[in-house]
Parts: sequence; C-alpha cells; structure tokens
Amino acid sequence: MPSNLFAEREKLNQLFKDEAVLYPEFLPDNLPHREKELDELVFALRPASEGKRPKSVFVFGPPGTGKTASVRFVVKQLEEFSGKAKGTVINCFEANSRHAVLSELATRFGAIIPRRGVGSDETLAEWVSVLQKRKILPIVVLDEADQLLSGDDGSKLLYDLLRLPEKHGIGVGVIIVSNDAELLASLDDRVKSSLSPVRIEFAGYSPQQLKQIFSERAEKAFFPGIVVSESIDIIAGHSGKLGGDCRVGIESLLAAGRVAEKENAEKLLPEHCKAVFGQVDKVSLEKRLAYLSLAEAALLKTVARHPDVNSGDLFLFYQTEVASPLAERMFRTMLSKLSKLGLVDAEETMGDVKGRTRRVNLVVSKEKVERL
Ligand SMILES: Nc1ncnc2c1ncn2[C@@H]1O[C@H](COP(=O)(O)OP(=O)(O)O)[C@@H](O)[C@H]1O
Ligand SMILES: [Mg+2]
Repeated sequence: MPSNLFAEREKLNQLFKDEAVLYPEFLPDNLPHREKELDELVFALRPASEGKRPKSVFVFGPPGTGKTASVRFVVKQLEEFSGKAKGTVINCFEANSRHAVLSELATRFGAIIPRRGVGSDETLAEWVSVLQKRKILPIVVLDEADQLLSGDDGSKLLYDLLRLPEKHGIGVGVIIVSNDAELLASLDDRVKSSLSPVRIEFAGYSPQQLKQIFSERAEKAFFPGIVVSESIDIIAGHSGKLGGDCRVGIESLLAAGRVAEKENAEKLLPEHCKAVFGQVDKVSLEKRLAYLSLAEAALLKTVARHPDVNSGDLFLFYQTEVASPLAERMFRTMLSKLSKLGLVDAEETMGDVKGRTRRVNLVVSKEKVERL
C-alpha cells in the first residue's frame, strides 16, 4: 500500500495544462481561416457600433464550421466597443417557440417576469420596456434556428423583432444561424422582405486548415511536446472526412487526452486518437439527426431499410415507400446533404460513366434513425 493514495497519484503523468480550452463553451481569442466571414459579420453589424440599426444576417453552413464561435466572437467585440449594443445567443433548439425565446430575452436583459401565467405579448412588452429604460441596442442571435423557423411561430417571433424599430424606436439586430441554406425560404413573405438578410456562408474546413486550428488549440490545452504531430494529422484527417467539422476534432483531442492520461502515457499518440474516434463520431453524428427536415428523415429511413443498394434502386424504394416522395432532383440533393453530414456513406462505384450510380449505406445506428 502506498503511504497515501493522493501522494501516489501525483506521480502520474499530467498531460493537460488547461483542459477547459477544449470544452465546447470555450471561445478562442482568434479564429484562423474565418477572416472573411468575420469581416462580413463586422460589416453587417457596424451601424450598431454607432447606435444605429444593423443589417440582419443569415449565417449558414455544415456543423462544426465555426458559425456559433464566429458570431459570439464578433458580438463580444461589438459589446466591448460600444456601450449601447448588447448581444445574446439563444439556442433555439432549447428555446424552440416564440414564447420560450421571448422569455429568454426578457430574463437575460434583466426584466423580472413570473415563471408562470405570463403571455408572450406581455413578455415582449416587458423586454421592450427594459431596453428602452436602459437604452440598449439588442443583438439577438437565434442559433440552431432550424426547427423554430420552420413553423409559423418562428415567423411570428421574427415579426415581433423586426417591428421593434418602427414601433418602439429600438434598432434591433437579428442574426439567424442554421445548418440549412434554404431555411428562410419557407418564412412568411412579409417577414422575408423585412428581414432581407446579408447571407454569410461557412464552408467546411480543409484538413490543412484543421491541422493549424488543432495545433493551436493543443498548444493551449497540453504541456509542450505532449501531442505528437502525427496525432494532429490523424485528427485533422478524420474531421476532414466528416465534412470539415472542427467540433469533432476538438472533442477527439479532449477524449484522447483523457485516455492517454488514464494510461499514464507520456505523450498523446495516434493510437489514443483512434481509440476515441468511434465514440466521438457516434455522439456527434447522432446529434445531427435532430436537425433533419421531415423529408430528409424519410429518405434516411429508406436508406436504413435497404443496406448497400445503388442510388438508382434507392430512388425506386424511396418512391414506393414514402408517403409523399419528392422528385428525383430533390432526392439527389437530399442524398448528397445526408452524405455531406456524414450520416450516409454514398460511394461512387468504379467504372460508372456518369459517376451517378453510388452504393449507399447508413453510417449512424439504425435504431436511432427508426426513432426519428
Ligand atoms: N476557425 C476556428 N478556429 C478555432 N476554433 C474553431 C474555429 N472554428 C471552429 N472552432 C471550434 O470548433 C468548435 C465548433 O465550432 P462552432 O462555432 O460551435 O461550430 P458550428 O456553430 O458551425 O457548428 C468550437 O469548439 C469552436 O471553438
Ligand atoms: Mg453552432
């Protein structure tokens, strides 16, 4: 027996210098390879720095491409620069109704509202009165807005926000963030025209870009020399394969670091990374399922029912088995989206002239897909 259990632990190798740098909420103080997107955000929000109404913004692109981080970064800078502007990022996956978002806004800006029995209009009025009293210019970020904005409730909420300038003289900024480039297409026409946002697209990172991002983050998170460069390479390659998803890589660094520490290893090696990919991917891919539209979910279920068919046959199954199937062009668009999201594997088959026939397989768990 060691003389003291805690004294014994101290002998283990400590690899992490600051583990929190790899937590999802950590906001880095620079975002490499997002210079253009940050510039565009700043340009749209610039009027707010002078107390005027900024342009509305629609930020879209695949998961893990730095959308939330970039928006948080710019809003923070704006707040530091201007005493009037105050931003808030609402995760609409959690607050997924007009009422829930208005309640969040009211409370976050310091209105006191009772928990129960307050209607949406009243909550809105409370929020407005705080903004007026404190002369705040609010920047409302509707993050993960997919589900909220696909219903009427979402259009109503936007309508509330967009009317603030003329109705109450509040120069609100609205930033909508989504994975879906077409999200705004289904909005109410009136809302669409008064929103008319600046569109900023975030594309997946290349493996080369991911390498740089991960090395910078690893330097902050681990003691010098702990993460061998092959580990960064393999994590970058892996995240690249999942559509250039930075989140997967950062989560893998954290998980692999923990495995290595537990093994009392002296360095973070490729084998530690490989050991965690399965679990990290599983969690991150399954999260993506929640954002699919009904039509995409129906297609994914068809894929789940028919393993390893070619895309032509898949279309036939899709047409006969789905209640209101979409036309072939949309089918192809959706299939390629599912493949970009890493949910299905749609490999080109060799020797195909048009390059259109692909063997399609489900990547995520069949049970999860059936429950959609
Ligand atoms: N350019 C970048 N530089 C450093 N870290 C980044 C960059 N882009 C994304 N990240 C990190 O990757 C993770 C996912 O980014 P996030 O903004 O949440 O993606 P999205 O909102 O597009 O899904 C976060 O931990 C974020 O800090
Ligand atoms: Mg996000």
